[in-house]
Amino acid sequence: MRKILLGSTGERISIFGLGTMYFGSKVDKKVSFRLMDIYEDHNGNFLDSANKYASWVSGFHGGESEAVLGSWLKSKHNRQKMLISSKVGFPYGNIPRSLKSDIIISECEKSLRRMGVETIDIYFAHAYDAETAIEETMEAFYHLKKEGKIRFAGASNFPAWRMEEANNLARQKGWEGFCCLQQRHSYLEPNVRTAFGNQLLITPETEDFALTKNITLMGYSPLLNGSYVREDRKLPEQYNSLNTDIRLKALRRVAGELNASPNQVVLSWMIHSNPVVIPLVTGSNESQIRENLNALKFHLSDDHLKILNNLDATQYELLENN
Ligand SMILES: NC(=O)c1ccc[n+]([C@@H]2O[C@H](COP(=O)([O-])OP(=O)(O)OC[C@H]3O[C@@H](n4cnc5c(N)ncnc54)[C@H](OP(=O)(O)O)[C@@H]3O)[C@@H](O)[C@H]2O)c1
Repeated sequence: MRKILLGSTGERISIFGLGTMYFGSKVDKKVSFRLMDIYEDHNGNFLDSANKYASWVSGFHGGESEAVLGSWLKSKHNRQKMLISSKVGFPYGNIPRSLKSDIIISECEKSLRRMGVETIDIYFAHAYDAETAIEETMEAFYHLKKEGKIRFAGASNFPAWRMEEANNLARQKGWEGFCCLQQRHSYLEPNVRTAFGNQLLITPETEDFALTKNITLMGYSPLLNGSYVREDRKLPEQYNSLNTDIRLKALRRVAGELNASPNQVVLSWMIHSNPVVIPLVTGSNESQIRENLNALKFHLSDDHLKILNNLDATQYELLENN
């Protein structure tokens, strides 16, 4: 699996990350280990987790994903090969939604303990916190870095301008800023004014920001929970937008031409974009993960990208009729 530079850090990160949100909860330990093995066999080096994964699943409290990830690293003796992330800032259990210094520092300690590691490679601010001065947040991340508890800081669910504000301040203070931004992203485009609660999307503006400032982009929920292909999963209603039908047609057409699945074209499209958006790929069984990782085999030609990116309904009809 190809690796790209992680922002301006000099570190190299896999073009596909592995999302471990339900590992240790909905996905049991044995299957989780198997899925991480398969990802490693494909030369992937980035495992994405968070402190609260997966506290909303009945019978679980958060920290399960980190614990299973940590025990897998221990059993494989491969800590040095992998980049691991965790996140802080969303609420779970008795922890409030917050990017205050004491929360960032104490949650980091807990994550390190649960994973059984000394350092988290990428520690994310999970969501922008309007109640806390950005200076307090950035100083806490700097403190963790100085102590060797994290290597790099990342942002998630931050508007680009908020992230730039944070990074500007960090630069002025001689602290390190955020090197990457993790937002919701898939091939279908939701309605412009639609909302996903606290989840923010990658927009053309985000892409311009990332290119200009050398920020690595990561996209979560790339497969819309399987709804591109599954009868049992309805597309989230936010994706019921004017160009949904035409984009689905374009997706199926390219998938047909390549003999790929629509899921594979979505994932491939993300790494063919400029800037690259690293998809956080996941699944709950071996065949899903294999299908998704096999997306790496496909090359999207300029013609495919034109179909996927540029067609409006009229152009598509013309193409279909010729
Ligand atoms: N920063 C954030 O705020 C944030 C938010 C959400 C997620 N994330 C990260 O992003 C990762 C991925 O998020 P997500 O789970 O929402 O991703 P997703 O790609 O939208 O959905 C994954 C789910 O889709 C189904 N699926 C996957 N591959 C499939 C296939 N080939 N065929 C049919 N169905 C398939 C599976 O559902 P079933 O298991 O039900 O079969 C799987 O659990 C997470 O693990 C986490 O690391 C970050």
